[in-house]
Amino acid sequence: MRIDEAKLRDYFANPPEDISLDEIDLERIPRHVSFIMDGNGRWAQSRGLDRSKGHVAGVDSLRETVTTSVRLGLDALSVYAFSTENWKRPKREVNLLMHLFATTLVKELPLFHQENVRLRFLGDLDALPRETRNVFQRGLDETADHTGMTFALAVNYGSRAEIVRAAQLLAADAAMGNVSPLDIDEEMISSRLYTSGIPDPDLLVRTSGEMRLSNYLLWQLAYTEFYVTDVYWPDFSRWEFLRAVRSFQARDRRFGGVVSK
Ligand code: IPE
Ligand code: IPE
Ligand code: MG
Repeated sequence: MRIDEAKLRDYFANPPEDISLDEIDLERIPRHVSFIMDGNGRWAQSRGLDRSKGHVAGVDSLRETVTTSVRLGLDALSVYAFSTENWKRPKREVNLLMHLFATTLVKELPLFHQENVRLRFLGDLDALPRETRNVFQRGLDETADHTGMTFALAVNYGSRAEIVRAAQLLAADAAMGNVSPLDIDEEMISSRLYTSGIPDPDLLVRTSGEMRLSNYLLWQLAYTEFYVTDVYWPDFSRWEFLRAVRSFQARDRRFGGVVSK
């Protein structure tokens, strides 16, 4: 995406001591950054608050992350909001999250319009409460003709379930005689994943220190650079985002080839 440099400089004015926009090469911004937004519960507990307060605070970080991504000119931002395993949580917490997804999305639609952001969802939405599903559909409809950054929200997403689904779709095509098994290639699998049409992430950020993928984008992250920060998601700011991009730009991405420097 094209960067509006005046807006970008203004957005990153008054930097903290250890990071500033000057350290970022604007020609080498990752196209797609993905986030495992983790640590809402610990953020709340460390303040003696109920976990739900952490989820509510996490919404502010997500809004800032969307804006930062637009300012930096990303083509795509994706975030892990609810996994297929998160249904194991207490019913009260699950209900709160589903309600929060719906209310937040409605509230943020003006931002998506203003910034020309196009919404996508990753995951099986059929299992969501009707209120949440309806609002998600409204978000899809209202942003369908936006031409700016793609914002993909992973809800009831599990990477293994996604790959199983792709296998089922391909098997159905094969059974119909539309696909011959030996012709199946990576592109045919990619195009049947929820992320179809979105380039693989260049950078994956996980907050709150955990060194695991928790069933997120197993196929798509094959050559993605990882950045793990101890910062809890509700404390994640535009500056922490810049630190992640600075770290990304210091990497040598070899894709299996030889060292280039
Ligand atoms: C991430 O924060 C949000 C979701 C998984 C919905 P957590 O709720 O996992 O917070 P921690 O990991 O328990 O601190
Ligand atoms: C991963 O976080 C899922 C999301 C951020 C939505 P979890 O908190 O569910 O992951 P684990 O349980 O620590 O692996
Ligand atoms: Mg967690």
